[in-house]
Amino acid sequence: MNVLVIGSGGREHALCWKLSKNPGVDKVLAAPGNGGTNEVAQNVDVKDDDIEGLLALAKAENVGLVVVGPEAPLVAGIADACARENIPCFGPDAFAAQLEGSKAFAKNVMRDAGVPTAPFGVFDDAEEARVYVKSHGAPLVVKADGLAAGKGVVVAKTVEEALEAIDDMMVKKSFGAAGARIVIEDALMGEEASFLAFCDGVNFALLPSAQDHKAAFDGDTGPNTGGMGAYSPAPVLPESKYAETAELCIRPILKRLAELGHPFKGVLYAGLMFTKSGPMVLEYNVRFGDPECQPLLMRLDADLVQIMLACAAGRLTPDMVRVRPETALCVVVAAPGYPGSYPKGMEISGLAEADALSGVKVFQAGTKAVDGKAVTSGGRVLGVTALGSTLAEAKAKAYEAVAKVGFDGCFFRRDIGDKGIARNYNPKEKTMTKVAVFMGSASDEDLMKPCAETLAKLDIPYLFTVTSAHRTPERTERLVTELEAAGCQVFICAAGMAAHLAGAVAARTTKPVLGVPLAASPLGGMDALLATVQMPPGFPVGTLALDKAGAKNAAWLAAQILALSDPALALRLKKERAEFLPAVEKAAAAVEQADAERRAHKKDKKDKKDK
Ligand code: AMP
Ligand code: GLY
Repeated sequence: MNVLVIGSGGREHALCWKLSKNPGVDKVLAAPGNGGTNEVAQNVDVKDDDIEGLLALAKAENVGLVVVGPEAPLVAGIADACARENIPCFGPDAFAAQLEGSKAFAKNVMRDAGVPTAPFGVFDDAEEARVYVKSHGAPLVVKADGLAAGKGVVVAKTVEEALEAIDDMMVKKSFGAAGARIVIEDALMGEEASFLAFCDGVNFALLPSAQDHKAAFDGDTGPNTGGMGAYSPAPVLPESKYAETAELCIRPILKRLAELGHPFKGVLYAGLMFTKSGPMVLEYNVRFGDPECQPLLMRLDADLVQIMLACAAGRLTPDMVRVRPETALCVVVAAPGYPGSYPKGMEISGLAEADALSGVKVFQAGTKAVDGKAVTSGGRVLGVTALGSTLAEAKAKAYEAVAKVGFDGCFFRRDIGDKGIARNYNPKEKTMTKVAVFMGSASDEDLMKPCAETLAKLDIPYLFTVTSAHRTPERTERLVTELEAAGCQVFICAAGMAAHLAGAVAARTTKPVLGVPLAASPLGGMDALLATVQMPPGFPVGTLALDKAGAKNAAWLAAQILALSDPALALRLKKERAEFLPAVEKAAAAVEQADAERRAHKKDKKDKKDK
């Protein structure tokens, strides 16, 4: 059978790679493809928005399965065109594709299907939108209704920012027709994850959870991108929760679209936010995510052609989808300037060396072959993907491979997977972070090590990280929200000088906050002590001793708090305490003996003198 893959990104290289390994596939065509697809498929120069051209290609090449990578051809009706010609197509029809093509359509379907999502309004009139924003107050999210290449979403922290976004989209028309209608919704707080399912219109088969990294730089800072890396599974959505999550966000959508006469066939991608009150849907995509597709296909241990044909024909069964138990992690290597403007045509080195590492696959995105050499031709250039038995191992392997590739000015995030690792202090047992240890500065690490050592000794899953109340207030706020949503019970905050970290955390959580003042200035720690201890009523910070002594005791006190509802930990604490006894008894015996000897010696001397 011949297969046609539409698209030209890293996702499409992964699709071509997987499909080309299938023994039932004679030829994979990629339209238009990239430098990577060219190695495992035959690139054909037909653009992904040329529906007639794609259809003519499929007919000319006797294609038995059309696989659509990006959303635009689906919204433009490629699946409808294939249906007219009786060519099996993996992807929904144009009506169902509005789930991604129109945010207003998606929100209405979610509301009608009873899917949890942020409260929203839909506006065709800028003045009505302004009135809504002013009466509602910030934070709000303003979204252009139509496709805007991932750029039509503004998370507005203030009313002014929301008004500016309305102006941008509806008056200045920055996104053209896509912004003529907008959706305004409440901003949700929490950690995001992607949950994808193969669908045949009625039935679905779940893929494991994944997590994207949308911001350009480490610590989720910088501009929004198409995605700078992804991994699967995402501990924020563990396997034990897949079935109930699918009932919440996959099944109701399939049911509603079938009622509307357009059963959804293809892969349905739910973008979820794990809030304090449970998962909520931020968006639906009607295709694989890019880069989520790369780690997901690395894990897929099943016949993808069979699955896709079953989706198209309405005979999918959940057992068709099997995945390897390992974690896969993908790091995107991007061109300098991305997601803004960037240079092209730079030669890429080290591809073969990176690919040769075991468990590693380099998926190419913005690349093309020129005179037998790979050169850059896009913003996201490579998706370096690795399998590991744990998330930490997959991360280490992927970055080992990243170190081998390069081109002028390339950049990548160094923290792909860290959120999952923080949750999975013990990746094998998937235990959640129970105690968060925050330091205001990297220079505090040495003083706070005894805290981490004590928590580790007591076998308490913890996160040990740097965040500043003054320099990174947003990061601090995000960490508190995410960790609390993930089940973190106690926050330990260490800082020197104007030590506001503990107070800033206490303002954002009702979990106990423990402060450790550090001596980091000529005032010898009195400054940090007073800044930490003197909190307003309702926002207590349990303040411990200065420096290492406080660091150790903060861990102990955190353990005692956890032990209130953890009898096994309470027993461990008793045991640890009991171990102090022999040490103290030994020391006491030594001191007593030395004293006895001293006295005997003195008496001896006195006796001799008396004689
Ligand atoms: P969307 O295209 O709707 O997924 O929006 C892109 C990104 O904007 C999401 O991945 C989130 O990071 C953010 N976002 C969208 N909607 C919301 C919301 N209601 N609250 C907070 N962040 C949001
Ligand atoms: N990685 C997010 C997306 O493909 O939309």
